[in-house]
Amino acid sequence: MSSMNYDLLARQLVSLLDTRDWLTNATQTVALIKQEIADLNWVGFYLHRKPRSLILGPFQGLPACNPIAFEHGVCGAAATTRQTQRVDDVQAFPGHIVCDVSSRSELVVPLISDERLWGVMDLDSPRPARFSDADQAGIERLGACFMSASDLSGSAIGFD
Ligand code: SME
Repeated sequence: MSSMNYDLLARQLVSLLDTRDWLTNATQTVALIKQEIADLNWVGFYLHRKPRSLILGPFQGLPACNPIAFEHGVCGAAATTRQTQRVDDVQAFPGHIVCDVSSRSELVVPLISDERLWGVMDLDSPRPARFSDADQAGIERLGACFMSASDLSGSAIGFD
């Protein structure tokens, strides 16, 4: 399988995010990722809108779990540690929250601005070990593009 061209995808994303509106930009970001990156069944944002809690934001895929406490799941681990969580086998991750039974691997990127956690970006795949080092770096870069393109004021209570 050929690897994804994340340089090109980041350029596409930057040109797509032609407004400062975080909601529009988040929606466009998930749509582009779902369309362009192969083997994904769910892509979306959770926002740090309540203390130590993640609230479902724009996404593509099945209706999802909401809210997610910082203590729970892969998303909670990303929020707590502020480190990207790359899980090759979600069934082996203690406390993984099942939103779509077809998910086999997962990548959750924390989104930080000014040392505050704004939210996380979550990608699920039906393929075990879907995400490589290059995918992780590329998707972290897409998250950074979204953050720098967007006016985040007023978007998340835990953030403001
Ligand atoms: N699996 C995630 C929950 C979110 S869904 O995958 C959309 C978790 O364990 O945090």
